[in-house]
Amino acid sequence: MSNIVWHDHAVSKQSRSELKGQKPQVIWFTGLSGAGKSTLAGALEQALAAEGKHTYLLDGDNVRHGLCGDLGFDDAARQENIRRVGEVAKLMVDAGLIVLTAFISPFRAERQLVRNLVGEGEFVEVFVDAPLAVCEERDPKGLYKKARAGEIRNFTGIDSAYEAPERPEIHLLNAGKSVEVLVDELLTALRQGNYL
Ligand code: ADX
Repeated sequence: MSNIVWHDHAVSKQSRSELKGQKPQVIWFTGLSGAGKSTLAGALEQALAAEGKHTYLLDGDNVRHGLCGDLGFDDAARQENIRRVGEVAKLMVDAGLIVLTAFISPFRAERQLVRNLVGEGEFVEVFVDAPLAVCEERDPKGLYKKARAGEIRNFTGIDSAYEAPERPEIHLLNAGKSVEVLVDELLTALRQGNYL
């Protein structure tokens, strides 16, 4: 990074946030494939948008079509996936947005790395906790079946690790509850934590 100097522009993160009337932050959903991250992040985004918040949802399956389209699923590729998404999320927080992300993000180290990229209190880790058996039973994309059959390698929960968060800001148990109930739980926890 030699010969490159950071330039502080006149319009600041604070002024961009004030224009939007909100606290910028990252609401980071993590959990197994099929745990419900994208569904819940999408439903929460809808609820926030209805309150007039300016949001953006970064979703693993979508980001892997473009920004991270060159990455696979070995450990190094997942680390790079989360590093890129973290940098994008940081820029969006700087733009004053409430950023929601839905990535398996299986490793504690990368989640910590993203937490460290943004300011104190700007990273809300949401652990979407659904037992592997439940995710496998749902199998919305038929990927667990393929992984069990050996057609997909390095599948999270089967032959690739998932390191559950130790102290997430929000811990959602997603087994048998409706999306509406879970979004209410999320909104309550976000308000109680003074994030909104
Ligand atoms: S992460 O581990 O790098 O955070 P990400 O959330 O971007 O993963 O992508 C996960 C999605 O990719 C899953 O929901 C699933 O649809 C798909 N996928 C394809 N191959 C795999 C795999 N080997 N392990 C996990 N998910 C996979």
